[in-house]
Amino acid sequence: KKETPKPISDKATQLEQHVADSTGQYMTTDQGLKINDDQNSLKAGERGATLLEDFILREKITHFDHERIPERVVHARGSGAHGIFKVYEDQSALTKAHFLCNPDIETPVFVRISTVAGSRGSTDLARDVRGFAVKFYTQEGNFDLVGNNMPVFFIQDAIKFPDLVHAVKPEPDNEMPQAASAHDTFWDFISFMPEASHMIMWQMSDRAIPRSLRMMEGFGVHTFRLVNAEGVSHFVKFHWKPLLGVHSVAWDEAQAISGKDPDFHRRDLWEAIESGAFPEWELGVQIVPEEDEFKFDFDLLDPTKLIPEELVPVQRIGKMTLNRNPDNFFAETEQVAFHVGHVVPGIDFTNDPLLQGRLFSYTDTQLIRLGGPNFHEIPINRPVVPVHNNQRDGFMRQTINRGKTSYGPNGIANNDPQQAKAKDGGFVSYNERIDARKIRARSRSFFDHFSQAKLFFNSQSEPEKNHIIDAFSFELGKVKSVEIRERMLGLLNHTDPKLASEIAFALGLHVPKIPLPEMNGSVPADADPADYTPVQT
Ligand code: HEM
Repeated sequence: KKETPKPISDKATQLEQHVADSTGQYMTTDQGLKINDDQNSLKAGERGATLLEDFILREKITHFDHERIPERVVHARGSGAHGIFKVYEDQSALTKAHFLCNPDIETPVFVRISTVAGSRGSTDLARDVRGFAVKFYTQEGNFDLVGNNMPVFFIQDAIKFPDLVHAVKPEPDNEMPQAASAHDTFWDFISFMPEASHMIMWQMSDRAIPRSLRMMEGFGVHTFRLVNAEGVSHFVKFHWKPLLGVHSVAWDEAQAISGKDPDFHRRDLWEAIESGAFPEWELGVQIVPEEDEFKFDFDLLDPTKLIPEELVPVQRIGKMTLNRNPDNFFAETEQVAFHVGHVVPGIDFTNDPLLQGRLFSYTDTQLIRLGGPNFHEIPINRPVVPVHNNQRDGFMRQTINRGKTSYGPNGIANNDPQQAKAKDGGFVSYNERIDARKIRARSRSFFDHFSQAKLFFNSQSEPEKNHIIDAFSFELGKVKSVEIRERMLGLLNHTDPKLASEIAFALGLHVPKIPLPEMNGSVPADADPADYTPVQT
């Protein structure tokens, strides 16, 4: 028998059931026993010894001893906020996702904005990419848009992600530097990674030092799919456009702020929301019909490329407003678990090899970070619709599943949940045709690493260009190895010889001419040089 779902429409109401407020209450143990004295341990006489019997002391200290969980392996430092999202107009021509089809639907969201490299206690003003993760609690389940404040990424294949992160994180012997890109391991890795050329221009630009988390763009980065009720798919790039505009600080300001107030962004977001100046972003989409997949001079599946807005304008289809601070940082901001794989009918994936790896990584890491397979039951992670399946047990299980059986098909109890047809809201993967050989390789359509890096540099104003040159000069100036600095200059020379020579001048070095096939790793030995932007001298 199918149960009629009774969705709790408001995430805040759902969370309210878990909120504890101790104002005016008696103190109790975790078992609810009222405590008479929690300031003195139980002793044999005033001067001790302390008695093992003291269950109040033991409980208090044991809980304290277990308070910490692992920080996120990346994006460890973040700030969260609740809000709402509303679409402006029915988007059913593009997608059957309910929350995008009805302007009357107000979808609760939880957003976490983060730095990538630093640990939980690192400064907000590090020169770094910012994570921009949004969880939509829709009536069809949770949809997570897990993006960044830059539209492209460092690498083209998820198999390189552990290397990238090991290079970005503090050096393994001395755990330095904490939250900056200015170190040998990072630039060593990047200097061998021509595909990072575009991203590194964004990372050395003003985008990497936002004035406020309220004044940043967000990007889904990968090309995703929107699929309508007829099964027609369009490629989509997601954008968040801040209504306050995009603003940055200068590097000198960033360093001064980091010294004076490492919580600068977190405080700004918190205080804006407390004072009613609610941050707002419009959701933008760039839409490409399936038949236009190969009309660009880059590959839509390549996460180091954006679709220039001149070619495909961004349509603004809805608005997100952050209007409530969390009640508890740990319970909400720390325990929230985003995942690119959390989609709803009408939103689907592409074969972007970075996205495909992410689809594995998030749940996997959360299994250890949040202590087992039941983290979806943590209040901040629960969908606002009921959850029914045959998954059972595991550490910290909270749901009390009723019934004699927990499998399907099931002829005994007739209480097992039923699979939903597409017309009843069941998720059906887009039936993309794939006819291919199994091969460990990369498409030639992923080989042009410099055109968009150059495009980005040329799109900048003179002061912005100077900031980029200064940023490279500052960061590479901190690199101890001259070999790494020179290799970086050789790589930058492929993006823009003038940029490379200005940085070289600042560093007191010359730009070496390194032909691309000699750059380790990214270019296969048998590659056709015509696939690359030629070295400019
Ligand atoms: C965390 C974005 C690539 C693995 C995050 C977070 C964001 C993000 C925003 C923070 C989530 C939060 O606030 O809780 C991105 C973007 C990527 C990217 C935009 C590329 C376009 C990857 C790749 C992998 C990966 C390729 C692995 C193959 C992780 C992991 C976490 C994380 C393990 C920690 C999650 C947690 O502990 O909850 N990412 N990421 N990411 N990302 Fe990515």
